Amino acid sequence: TTPLIIDTDPGVDDAFALALAAASPEVDLVGVTTTFGNVGLERTTRNALGLLALLGRADVPVAAGADRPLVHAQPSLSSAHGSDGLSGFAGTLPPAGAPDPRDAVALLADLLGASDRPVVIAAVGPLTNVALLLAAHPSLKPKIERLVVMGGAIGAGNISPRAEFNAWCDPEAARRVLVVEDVPTTLVPMDLTMRCSVDGPWLDAVGAASEVGRVLVGLTADYREAYRGLLGWDGMALHDAVAVAEAVRPGLLGTRRLPVEVDCGYGPGRGSLLVDERLEARDAGRVDVAVDVDVAGLRGWLSERLSGL
Ligand code: BDR
Ligand code: CA
Repeated sequence: TTPLIIDTDPGVDDAFALALAAASPEVDLVGVTTTFGNVGLERTTRNALGLLALLGRADVPVAAGADRPLVHAQPSLSSAHGSDGLSGFAGTLPPAGAPDPRDAVALLADLLGASDRPVVIAAVGPLTNVALLLAAHPSLKPKIERLVVMGGAIGAGNISPRAEFNAWCDPEAARRVLVVEDVPTTLVPMDLTMRCSVDGPWLDAVGAASEVGRVLVGLTADYREAYRGLLGWDGMALHDAVAVAEAVRPGLLGTRRLPVEVDCGYGPGRGSLLVDERLEARDAGRVDVAVDVDVAGLRGWLSERLSGL
C-alpha cells in the first residue's frame, strides 16, 4: 500500500475524495491537511474531521494549514458548496474529534520524514500548504513519490473566464508548486474532471448502498443545485475524487507531459494556467497533465468503491 496524504478544503467533492481514499485498500491514508478554499479554514478543518469520523477513520491525523493565500488576500466568495462547505448539512456528520496540535506543514514534514516509503500527496484545494512545505523543507522532496493536484483549466475556467478555483485562490502558491519546484506532479485540470461529472441516478445508487453513502450523498444538495445550472441536468462534478482516483490507481488517467505556467499577474487572467502545447517535443518540464480517461469506466469504478463504504 502507498502512503497517501490528502491536502483539502472540504467541500462536497473533497468529501467524495476522502471517501474514495478511505474505501481504497491500495492506499494508506496517513494524514489529512486542511486549507482555506471552498469555505474558511476553521470550517474546512471541522468538515475534514467530521468526514473522517463518518468514514470510520477518526484515527487519521488532521492538521489545519493556511487560512489565506501566500501573497494576497482572498476576495470573499459565495461558494457553490453552501454556507458550511457541505450544502448546509455538515451538522449531519458525527461529532468531529480535535485537530492535530501541529500545523499542516509540520504534520506533512513529520509524516514525510518518518515514512520509510515514498508518499503520494493529493492536493485538492488551493496549493498554499504544499508551496509552504516545499519552500520550508526542500530536503523532504525526495520523500514525495508524486503530487497529484486537482486544479487549473486548459480551456474555460470556473471562477473567471480562464481560471479554475484552486489555482485562482492562490496563484503564487500554484506557480511555486507547478513551475518552480521539481517534484513529479500529475495535474488533473477541470477540463477533465468536468467530463467525469456524475448524474442523479449515480448519486442515488451510492446513497442507497450504505448508511455512510446516504450521509455522503446528503451533503450534495446545494452543490448539485449549483451544477444544475451549469450542466443543464441533475448532476455534479467530482473534481477532487478524480484526482484521488489517479492517486489510488496510478495511470488511470491518460496524461501528456507539457510545460505549465500560472498567471500571477493582476489582469483578468490572474490564476489561469498556460499549458504550452507548442513545446511538447522539447523541454516539457515535469508536469503530467491529465487529458484523458475512460469516463464510463471511471464512473462505474467510483460507484463500486463508494458503495462499499
Ligand atoms: C475545485 O474547486 C473546489 O470548489 C472543488 O472542491 C475543487 O477542488 C474545482 O475547481
Ligand atoms: Ca477542493
